[in-house]
Amino acid sequence: MDKVRFFGGEQIPLEMHKVRIVQKLNLPPVEARLRAINEAGNNTFLLQNRDVFMDMLTDSGVNAMSDQQQAAMMTADDSYAGSATYTRMENKVREIFGTPWFLPAHQGRACENILAQVLVTPGSVVPMNYHFTTTRAHIMRNGGTVEEVISDAGIEVSSSHPFKGNVDIAKLAALIQQHGSERIAFVRMEAGTNLIGGQPFSLENLGEVRRLCDQHGILLVLDASLLADNLYFIKQREAACQNLSIREITRKLADLCDIIYFSARKLSHARGGGICIRDEALFRKMRGLVPLFEGFLTYGGMSVREMEAITVGLDETMDEDMIGQGPQFIAYMVDELQKRGVPVITPAGGLGCHINAMKFVDHIPQAQYPSGALAVALYIAGGIRGMERGTLSEERDANGNEVLSHMELLRLAMPRRVFTLSQVKYAIDRISWLYQHRSLIGGLTFTDEPAILRFFYGRLKALSDWQQKLVDQFRRDFGDSL
Ligand code: F0G
Repeated sequence: MDKVRFFGGEQIPLEMHKVRIVQKLNLPPVEARLRAINEAGNNTFLLQNRDVFMDMLTDSGVNAMSDQQQAAMMTADDSYAGSATYTRMENKVREIFGTPWFLPAHQGRACENILAQVLVTPGSVVPMNYHFTTTRAHIMRNGGTVEEVISDAGIEVSSSHPFKGNVDIAKLAALIQQHGSERIAFVRMEAGTNLIGGQPFSLENLGEVRRLCDQHGILLVLDASLLADNLYFIKQREAACQNLSIREITRKLADLCDIIYFSARKLSHARGGGICIRDEALFRKMRGLVPLFEGFLTYGGMSVREMEAITVGLDETMDEDMIGQGPQFIAYMVDELQKRGVPVITPAGGLGCHINAMKFVDHIPQAQYPSGALAVALYIAGGIRGMERGTLSEERDANGNEVLSHMELLRLAMPRRVFTLSQVKYAIDRISWLYQHRSLIGGLTFTDEPAILRFFYGRLKALSDWQQKLVDQFRRDFGDSL
């Protein structure tokens, strides 16, 4: 956005790529959207993709690949063991992170399974800047607990702090003091902190965490799934890194960590994952689990084609133009929504644009799932599919009571290099319209509530005829427009 200036003074992100393969989209009329969301139990996870115009559910496994990635996929070596494809991937990981040992896994949570099985025991504590759902589940499954030591700024919805993903070093030190270093399985840092709005940590903060880990002999683990966004923000926002290349920043981050794992559904724009390890003894312990849960050591559950795409994708991640596209498009969307008064998480992060449902629909009580209702309303308003990140994504406590979440967010993920600026403008337009008519939006209640991970499969219904009223308003304002 800042590399190319426009004569007219406009500030818009300019794509540093061109589109060479396309997928046709379908935008059903608003009445059909109402039908589709009700057939999907008012749960955006249950919508059929043919009914979705802009799929902003996630950026996982849905980012656009480059021509070079596609070309590399054709050269994949299919051998079960000793595949040249795997050797290329392992060498690329070594080159970029400088870690001597590598293990392949089929996706990010598979890495978390292996890490937790080897490092977490009953009574273990794992401090981290913020949890991710699958990470916490694996740690708890092995008898450990998660402690968040995020800086106070991290959980403020509106902020101008450049690194809301930073750890509060004093909180971390106190936690180590409280539990004793022997109970700390490892400290986990999550790049581009997912659940608080794709917020980065700084290189300086990671260095401080490292020093504390060194003082107490504790392992430092980096979840690099959203590293691309975090690298871009370090380059943009951290003065000490302005003259470093992305490759140099990556190496500085990696040098501070004992273990780096990633979901290649995000990092490298392909599908897979892996664990990079510095210590040979740890590598040997983890290695035993790969053939049990993933596949042989030279594919770990991944297709060879995806491994070729990962190798090229990792290399392309070192290009600022490539990793800048997501954050720049997200910043554009966040800025434009803010101009129109729509409550969003600030500053703009990576991953996507996060709408603050607690404010957007402040008339809906949390027990009626405001972010879930907003996700449904936005689908009706524009065929746009987002993801509820609020009370609906929590689980009831042991007594069956609702656990109200700290934040009520509607996450609108920005798959990288997938949408054009006019599509993003369309989304801004429909969200702004919805904001004008927010009083029409009502709550939801479960008709079928699964005991675990209810947000994935649960079915809900509207608590009144508010959805029909929204459709009627749409027709009044937009005439016969789709
Ligand atoms: N860590 C982070 C930070 C993630 O965002 C994810 C996935 C994982 C680990 C797990 O990786 O999906 O390959 O098993 N996030 C996806 C999302 C699911 O939609 O945000 P995975």
